Amino acid sequence: MNYENRFCILANCMKMIIKNISKIVQVNRGNQKFIQSKHLDSINTIDDGYIEIEGSKIKNFGSMKDWRGIDDWNNIEIIDAEGGCVYPSFCDSHTHLVFSDPRQNEFVLRIKGNSYEEIAKKGGGILNSAESLAKINEDELYEISLERLKNVIKHGTGAIEIKSGYGLSLSSEIKILRVIKRLKENTQVKIKSTLLAAHAVPKKYFGKKDEYIKLITEKIIPKVSDENLADYIDVFCEKNYFDIHDTHKILKCGIKYGLKPKIHVNQFNSLGGIKAALENNAISVDHLEVINDEDIKHLKGSDTMATLLPSCSFFLNIPYAKAKKFISNNININLASDYNPGSSPSSNMSFVSSLGCIKLHLTPNQVINATTLNGAHAMEISENYGSIDIGKKANLFITKKIPSYDYLQYSFGENCIKTVILNGKVN
Ligand code: NIG
Ligand code: FE
Repeated sequence: MNYENRFCILANCMKMIIKNISKIVQVNRGNQKFIQSKHLDSINTIDDGYIEIEGSKIKNFGSMKDWRGIDDWNNIEIIDAEGGCVYPSFCDSHTHLVFSDPRQNEFVLRIKGNSYEEIAKKGGGILNSAESLAKINEDELYEISLERLKNVIKHGTGAIEIKSGYGLSLSSEIKILRVIKRLKENTQVKIKSTLLAAHAVPKKYFGKKDEYIKLITEKIIPKVSDENLADYIDVFCEKNYFDIHDTHKILKCGIKYGLKPKIHVNQFNSLGGIKAALENNAISVDHLEVINDEDIKHLKGSDTMATLLPSCSFFLNIPYAKAKKFISNNININLASDYNPGSSPSSNMSFVSSLGCIKLHLTPNQVINATTLNGAHAMEISENYGSIDIGKKANLFITKKIPSYDYLQYSFGENCIKTVILNGKVN
């Protein structure tokens, strides 16, 4: 008997059976860590199925016709899926969920013809968010972030990466990361955290970018590492933000302190940041709306995930990443929400899935792989998340009764999700 089973007997672990599932989606991935682009269109499903959960993990699953029934009625919860589908929870590997105020005023300015870049140059954008974040205390920030996270969970996300980056000072960056730590401790969703102090040069350091980089490398990174507040290091590698030289410097310092790189790159310009990220063994390169042949050449054959963020393109009206180009070059991809107040004020991964089909021209199967197992891989957690497999965490959702599993991607803007289960508990 393994430790988990022994623990379950001693602790009288809750068991759960989900029955009458019209289709279990994304099953039997075994120990595959991610799905290569050349196989991205294929998923495994089970018709008319059941799933057995014990404690926080998936114990078994299969077709209803093979179900043995229940021999011990103690501590058991039965959920009738009533012909809905079961999906593994979405794994959203790129968000900025911890922010203070939304920025709908900038949204209106953009509608009136101002570009994202113009607004940023006038002190809007990230600097605007940094100003409001400086004014809010940690407890207030925690409360509003918790409400946002509850909404994220309701929309089917069961694992999420959250970045700092609206602090831009030692105390505010730490404030955000401490809030992320509290979210980890107090919710059922799996959370990875990223230090993004290099999101923009704060006002105080205009004309003195090197001094801000010094603050990041000499004060912020060591403090974050000291308090064990982050898993990853991120840089916004972009014109008017941080260049290749800065990117190398910050990533290398992060690595020295045990933080692995995941970076914002090629959103508006291709500066060579992909090459820099790969030289520093980045786990993922994120955005990639702008891509050239050199970039493709570097990514081809690497293990790094290309994380595409279609709701950011949708919201800012900028080009969409050329997902098909990545796929034809067998470059690994996943999709994430980029949830943030400036360029993607939505965490809805069902909507991201629809955009994946409608705007990136991916098939529903490709989108499912890109939002579940591959998203988990972009957070290095695919051993336990991202598919319905025995021994993995019971993080999944049951849909309303829908005509077929790809109705979820098709019915954009609708909510097909009825019940969310995280760590084996209904949320
Ligand atoms: O991922 N590109 C940089 N950062 C965010 C947007 C930040 C903001 O506008 O607040 C992004 O799109
Ligand atoms: Fe982002």
